[in-house]
Amino acid sequence: MRQLDDYNPFDPEVAENPFEYYAALREQAPVYRTPMGFFMVSTHRLCLEAIRETKAFSSRFAAAMAGGMGGSNALEKGQVDETPISPTDTLLTNDPPSHTRFRKLVNKAFSPRRVEKMDAYVSQIARDLIDGFESQDRIELVTELAVPLPLTVIADQLGVPRSGMDDFKKWSDASVAPLGGIVTQEEQVECARLVVELQKYLLARAAERRSKATDDLLSDLVHASVDGETPLSDAEVVSITQQFLVAGNETSTNLIAATLMFILQDPEQEAKLRARPDLIPNAVEEGLRCETPVQGMWRVAACDTELGGVEIPKGSFLMLRYAAANRDPAVFSDPERFDVERSNAREHLSFGQGIHFCPGASLARKEAAVAIQSMLDRFPKLSLSKENDFRHHPSMLLRGLKRLDVGLR
Ligand code: HEM
Repeated sequence: MRQLDDYNPFDPEVAENPFEYYAALREQAPVYRTPMGFFMVSTHRLCLEAIRETKAFSSRFAAAMAGGMGGSNALEKGQVDETPISPTDTLLTNDPPSHTRFRKLVNKAFSPRRVEKMDAYVSQIARDLIDGFESQDRIELVTELAVPLPLTVIADQLGVPRSGMDDFKKWSDASVAPLGGIVTQEEQVECARLVVELQKYLLARAAERRSKATDDLLSDLVHASVDGETPLSDAEVVSITQQFLVAGNETSTNLIAATLMFILQDPEQEAKLRARPDLIPNAVEEGLRCETPVQGMWRVAACDTELGGVEIPKGSFLMLRYAAANRDPAVFSDPERFDVERSNAREHLSFGQGIHFCPGASLARKEAAVAIQSMLDRFPKLSLSKENDFRHHPSMLLRGLKRLDVGLR
């Protein structure tokens, strides 16, 4: 068992191999005060408790991110153009009652009907991408399928033409990179510059939709109305769509690549899925549980409080470590094993729970299931190439494979 004395979640090697530390945290100190001062919460029960206590454990942690615990403060230093929108805490970094207004309006736009409508079209994008592999013996799955599938879906929904996809990918990456806390100062400045470009672009698209409605998510957001709630302003729409990129793009990419990796690493699991494709949605839940693309989320103590018998002073930051909770043996038997037949796989916390539960969950699940199903259907003999080292991008917050080389024949 690991000792916690040398535990530094920002160390890239620890981020690569965190699981023994997660076991040590759960056993030795489920609410652990790290040397950096924040509390790491690692059991399923205590993560859920903190999620539910929204008054004591606030989601208004954006100030901490800007202060260096995760994000960029380059904008404040005048190193890039001024942002065209004033930073607004809308969803992920907000609390009721303001969060409730934004969430109602977003739920209205991101409705089950909208996601259902996208079903055939997500499958079509996957099919088109996979058609492109016909003449190949092997692919690098991350760049050739796992990145373009969710990126194309969300770009279409935000009115980005296919010709603008390269810029869009750069902007999306720049929105995400600073959150992991393992980037240089120069990289932070570059990311902030790109985010300003993205905001200007999205403002223009939102204005277009305000004058003429179209059949996409951005238009639904601009026109969303709920009784008694003020509709979203353009700046709020931009802030929310930026969150879709931050929260929804790379995470879905990482889910697709990791789930396929787990399946192909275990021939018995692969055979089960080929024999019973109805298990694919559960395989995606296991991919979510075992990889946990968002390893955890911040909270900040709004008052002096306690969690699991540990005193938490007002203003303390907590990292609810969903990745550790997802391998908690109190909830999941044989938790380190990827098992497509696990009956309670959906109890994972990979999308959070409660009022901040991920609004993109059903879209992400659909994209991953379609990608896995299409790959298995099209290629009866998939394999992992020997060169794979299964290394992840260095980040303390997001977990995503750098590449996955897959043999197709
Ligand atoms: C595998 C893919 C995804 C994962 C693992 C994921 C994970 C999460 C998690 C853990 C949270 C809640 C954090 C908390 O406890 O506060 C969250 C919230 C959120 N997600 Fe996702 N997400 C994914 C895909 C998406 C997609 C596709 C979108 C949109 C296009 C999206 C948009 C959001 C937004 C806007 C929030 C904030 C909701 C709120 O605070 O009310 N996510 N996501």
